[in-house]
Amino acid sequence: MIDIKDRVRNKALHAKIVTAEEAAAIIKPGMNIGTSGFTPAGYPKAVPLALAERMKKEELKINLLTGASVGKELDGSLAEANGIIKRLPYQANNALRNQINNGTVQYLDLHLSLVSQMARYGFFGKMNVAIVEACAITEEGHIIPTTSIGNSASFVHQADIVIVEVNISQSPELEGMHDVFIPMDPPHRLPIPIVGVDDRIGTPYIPAGPDKITFIVPCDLPDATGALAAIDDDARAMSSHLTDFFSSEIKHGRLPKNLLPLQSGVGSVSNAVIAGMAESPFTHLNVYTEVIQDGMLGLLDAGKLDFASAASLTLSPDGIKRFYANISEYRKKILLRPQEISNNPEIARRLGIIAMNTAIEVDIYGNVNSTHIMGTKMMNGIGGSGDFARSSYLTIFFSNSVAKGGDISSIVPMCSHIDHTEHDVDLIITERGVADIRGLSPKERARVIIKNCAHPHYQPMLMDYLEKAEKATGFTHTPHLLDEALAWHIRFLKSKSMKLS
Ligand code: COA
Repeated sequence: MIDIKDRVRNKALHAKIVTAEEAAAIIKPGMNIGTSGFTPAGYPKAVPLALAERMKKEELKINLLTGASVGKELDGSLAEANGIIKRLPYQANNALRNQINNGTVQYLDLHLSLVSQMARYGFFGKMNVAIVEACAITEEGHIIPTTSIGNSASFVHQADIVIVEVNISQSPELEGMHDVFIPMDPPHRLPIPIVGVDDRIGTPYIPAGPDKITFIVPCDLPDATGALAAIDDDARAMSSHLTDFFSSEIKHGRLPKNLLPLQSGVGSVSNAVIAGMAESPFTHLNVYTEVIQDGMLGLLDAGKLDFASAASLTLSPDGIKRFYANISEYRKKILLRPQEISNNPEIARRLGIIAMNTAIEVDIYGNVNSTHIMGTKMMNGIGGSGDFARSSYLTIFFSNSVAKGGDISSIVPMCSHIDHTEHDVDLIITERGVADIRGLSPKERARVIIKNCAHPHYQPMLMDYLEKAEKATGFTHTPHLLDEALAWHIRFLKSKSMKLS
């Protein structure tokens, strides 16, 4: 067994060190398991792999609650062993996505900031087991998380059985980078006292104590993050539109010179947009977000970023190497918080966050679909995009104007599913340009979105739809042809293209 005694600083806890198989043996069918892990960083690996082995041999299925998406050792191995009954609140794993979309796994796609509170109120049932990854356990028996915090603190607090995976692939220098705070529930909740992105309000560990910990398991597997897609011309164009827009806002006195705290979503597009900010004229930037991707390290290295607060460090394999090679510097400028705090709408509204997330499709009135392909198939989930979209100062959605080689227009007459309504969206940016829809009525919005953001192939089709809908409804408030509104999606499903033949 890997020696983790130097990481478990409470000597009495050495007696609780067991193998992953021994710890996994405590799990019974139907249990609620709450784990660490956020997009996919800081999740447990050894115990889930041992649990998946059990699932292959015996009738054993569990409900899995995490912070957000987790790596292949957890979502992947349990899905492949057909071991998940219910999953929440976010995922991004192929095998699991298929099971969600073929009805074998029940999935709850939730606003990430709300999960801890919902769990505390018991909406998911009793929390039987918490499995959390740690880089160390303190002399007092408190848990030092690794590359994310997610919902770990609340899960540990509620669970009957707590299993801590001490992962030696995670640097002990992560200690001190966390700020753990669990708010009280209404009616006893107080204002969350964060007024600057670098404010510390909690403890640098998850409060536990030796009696709370049931088992400690050694692990040496690194976070299985993937490489990010190369930054292409479309992403560069979106990034440059964003920079021009910010410059104009500064000129008009609507943003300070160092902007307002930035939030940036998951995925290749978000990463590319942030990476592009390294070339921008803006300095002394601040970040209040949920995920730190490689692009943020670029901003820190370029001296553009003063401080970044997040819930996880989701770096590509190259990004992790870069981070650990210079962790003593990065740790001065990065703080990790529970997702209930990193994504908290109270703080987003107070700080005046600039929320930047990616859409799957946007409709001509500014409604956004972030989750469903052709209205029915779950892609990943809403994640934190809704936490920020509703409450930020400026809410921006990015998308390529087309998908699947041009056969899908990302600007459609009506979204086939809506995650963010027209009331929450301020700006849409595609590689074609920027639609600033603040202060516009629906019919004004539609013209700006079509003209500035849609692909030229689809622009005449969208204008034709809008004008026909206006005439047919007598220029009603939000003109739609209800029998044609989703015809583009139906055409794609039937003929593999939204284009008219
Ligand atoms: N119709 C069908 N498929 C579409 C599409 C559309 N309108 N737009 C994009 N896609 C497909 C792409 O073709 C791609 O498919 P592939 O994986 O088979 O190549 C996939 O969706 C991902 O699109 P991509 O352009 O690579 O963007 P991305 O990696 O930036 O991901 C989201 C985009 C929307 C899926 C992703 O950002 C997400 O899950 N967002 C919701 C959660 C969120 O916003 N969290 C933010 C807070 S962290």
